[in-house]
Amino acid sequence: MSDVLFQSLRVGNLELKNRLILGPMAVLQPQKDGRPSAQTIAFLEARARGGVGMIIVGGAIGTRRGHDEAPFHPLLRMDIEEYLPELREVAEVVKTHGVPIIAEVMTGFGRMGVARNGEDIISASPLNVVIPENQFPQGIIVPGGRTTPTPREATIAEIKALESETIESCLRMQRAGWDGVEIPAHLSYFAASFSSPRTNWRKDEYGGSVENRARFLVNIVSAVRQRAGTDFVIGLRITATERVEGGQDASGYAELAKLVEAAGLDYVALSDGCYETMSVSTPAVDGGLIDSGAAKIFRELLRVPLLLQGLHEPQNSRSAIEEDCGDAVMLARPLLADPNYVNKLKQGKAEEIIRCDRQNYCLRRLAFNMPVRCFANPETGREARMGKSAPLSRLLPAMFEQVVLGVTGSKIFMGLIRLLLKLKPE
Ligand SMILES: Cc1cc2nc3c(=O)[nH]c(=O)nc-3n(C[C@H](O)[C@H](O)[C@H](O)COP(=O)(O)O)c2cc1C
Repeated sequence: MSDVLFQSLRVGNLELKNRLILGPMAVLQPQKDGRPSAQTIAFLEARARGGVGMIIVGGAIGTRRGHDEAPFHPLLRMDIEEYLPELREVAEVVKTHGVPIIAEVMTGFGRMGVARNGEDIISASPLNVVIPENQFPQGIIVPGGRTTPTPREATIAEIKALESETIESCLRMQRAGWDGVEIPAHLSYFAASFSSPRTNWRKDEYGGSVENRARFLVNIVSAVRQRAGTDFVIGLRITATERVEGGQDASGYAELAKLVEAAGLDYVALSDGCYETMSVSTPAVDGGLIDSGAAKIFRELLRVPLLLQGLHEPQNSRSAIEEDCGDAVMLARPLLADPNYVNKLKQGKAEEIIRCDRQNYCLRRLAFNMPVRCFANPETGREARMGKSAPLSRLLPAMFEQVVLGVTGSKIFMGLIRLLLKLKPE
């Protein structure tokens, strides 16, 4: 029987050649002003050449607010009309390799936003994020954990403005020749804050019933569907289950996703946990969505293709699809470690795949706003250099980055910080 991972898959009007997809990651190193750079293109092209069935581009923003409050910079800007020719070039290069390209259009960072330029951060309700020290992904040491500032409840006018701006950005991506968009509603960001009764206590049309909590997403998806037509793919990335006490479970999220599906979705991509349970979202082991039963709950309720995450081992992806837990698998960190993962697998050379060590060097760099690199693969993040050494402008920052990463990665040093925090008078 043929390998299920290499069977084609229909997603909206697209025919994917296999079931392995580049998952969205903020690793594109766009230019400072948010235009794509040569590195953005080189990174994506290497993964397209490496055989993936589809590319979902993360680290991209669809609103001015989202850009201003972003925890990481620079992000790829999809909210600026002037950038359309450069965005078109990105799609053209990727599509040369027969790989469809989808833009993850972020609406805003909500509970994870950073207040800048005198502007408040906003969310469905005023609830901040508390990440306990033991909930950071493997390899990330944050003594005492992290508590974010409390956002202000967004006004109806602010919500509607973000809806409109996101819709325009999605349509811009269609004009730029991209195959589709994905609306991210996961990881405690703005759209996610509406979905769960834990983070949404509103009494107006955006809170309370599941219909109201889905309204922000339904409004965006139905408007894009109506104006873009049926040939443009629209996906949703959604939390599968919050995994915190009092949080919403998979049935609640699946019910909400079902309403958004009816507004015109072509696929649903799952994410596990939220920022409070980051160690689950960027997991140290395979299979969280499968073992918790969350994927199966979505599978049974939805009709559109379901994309899974957090499966690094090809056999685990294969089993998940064969057992009908989903239709395809998004690979994120594995494709930082090896852009040729899919081709090697297809050629029967699985043992040659460079494996992700799940120590999250990539995420640590992102957290410090450093260009993302991979410990397992020195070429990652440097694809555009084509083997040439770093420009002089990178030498000094690179040395400084090594010192910061060395110190913050040291268990002894971070243990000392933890001790000092405990001794600090209240
Ligand atoms: C460096 C890095 C950046 C990420 N950026 C994004 C992003 O922009 N959008 C998003 O939806 N997920 C983002 N993620 C989460 C991944 O898409 C994925 O869900 C997570 O890494 C778990 O999948 P994996 O085990 O295949 O890496 C990021 C992950 C990493 C490691």
